[in-house]
Amino acid sequence: MTGQKQTQAASDGQSPEDGRSHDLQKALEQRTGLLHELDHRVKNNLQLISSLMLLQARHAHEPAVKTALEAMHERLNAIAVVHRGLFMTEDPGRFDIAAFVRDLAAELAGARPGVRIMLDLEPVAMRTGHAAALALLINELLINALRHAYPEGRQGEVRVKITRSGSEMRIGIADDGVGMANANQEQGFGLSIVDLLSRQLQARVAWEDAHPGVHVAVTLPVEAE
Ligand SMILES: Nc1ncnc2c1ncn2[C@@H]1O[C@H](COP(=O)(O)OP(=O)(O)O)[C@@H](O)[C@H]1O
Ligand SMILES: [Mg+2]
Repeated sequence: MTGQKQTQAASDGQSPEDGRSHDLQKALEQRTGLLHELDHRVKNNLQLISSLMLLQARHAHEPAVKTALEAMHERLNAIAVVHRGLFMTEDPGRFDIAAFVRDLAAELAGARPGVRIMLDLEPVAMRTGHAAALALLINELLINALRHAYPEGRQGEVRVKITRSGSEMRIGIADDGVGMANANQEQGFGLSIVDLLSRQLQARVAWEDAHPGVHVAVTLPVEAE
């Protein structure tokens, strides 16, 4: 509607500046639309690859191969959730990590019957360029809690909390499960990914054996609003 009015104004003999700013506005809208379209397509393609991984996991006979393919399916799925968030945002340069966690938790809810995921999320916008790395990091920690903290049908609650103070964001992932005492001695691939991504994001990752459960806190810098 506004666009129509401006076009009329320009042809009504108003200043050519109005026409130019209208053209610029239109070009910007087109560019934003294209970016969103691209994120939409990337999301669909990632989901396709993710589904292929799951199909192959189901075909695999060897348990280690099956587990590795399932984990890759989950990782690709987390990146697809990021792209779904990107094509729905107003500003393609910013990404709300709280909205991502809500989406991911909705997808993982029910993955472990008897284990609830509780969210306490302050919206924090970050640069889109870092979104996939942080999303993957959160995915590893959340899935670890769901997968390892509640063996043999134990029940419990995983809490995810996001807060921002000044130029830092803190993401807490806390479970009330069995703790790390029985953890595999060797660091798994998941925790290697956490190390790698936290370096990339300049994040600090603090682990606490909280009896009960494991509390992980990820702290990282975010730009001023
Ligand atoms: N929240 C948790 N509660 C209990 N044990 C955990 C938790 N997170 C990780 N672990 C332990 O740490 C190990 C290494 O995790 P990870 O590197 O992600 O490998 P993977 O998940 O493939 O086993 C896990 O196998 C598990 O024993
Ligand atoms: Mg893991």
